[in-house]
Amino acid sequence: MRIAVGTDHGGYLLKETIIAVISETGHEALDFGTDSEDSVDYPDFAEKVGSAIQSGKADRGIVICGSGIGGCIAANKMQGVYAAICHDVYSAQQGVEHDDMNVLCLGGRIIGTELAKVLVKTFLEARFVGEDQGQERHKRRVEKVKKLEKEGKQS
Ligand code: RB5
Repeated sequence: MRIAVGTDHGGYLLKETIIAVISETGHEALDFGTDSEDSVDYPDFAEKVGSAIQSGKADRGIVICGSGIGGCIAANKMQGVYAAICHDVYSAQQGVEHDDMNVLCLGGRIIGTELAKVLVKTFLEARFVGEDQGQERHKRRVEKVKKLEKEGKQS
């Protein structure tokens, strides 16, 4: 898979580790910055990752900011982006398997590099099960989420 990676300055120190894991596991990393610890705005990097998914340049994405929260909120504003912060292995796996999560968000100031590596590997190995026999309920639920995305936008 092609994996779009975007971080702000709070996630920058994790970025090279994550890009290395993506390559080592046979995937292609698309690096959307940032490229230093200089202060930048997390929505700009979440947008780059989301746009890569929307255009089909990337299959999935990883967004990293200090806490994971701002990047996650921003990414989820983009149509077709299903992002979640997963700082435990169970969520990194089930978020894809049951919820069709396509963007993993991490807090670079919260987790260490070893946990980040395991979370990224888990995210990349997981597959949505909603098309599998006996697992249709997950597809039904994701379709309901997509309906909310389409119809629930007005305030
Ligand atoms: C940047 O200082 C910080 O606010 C940002 O990385 C992120 O944690 C926002 O959610």
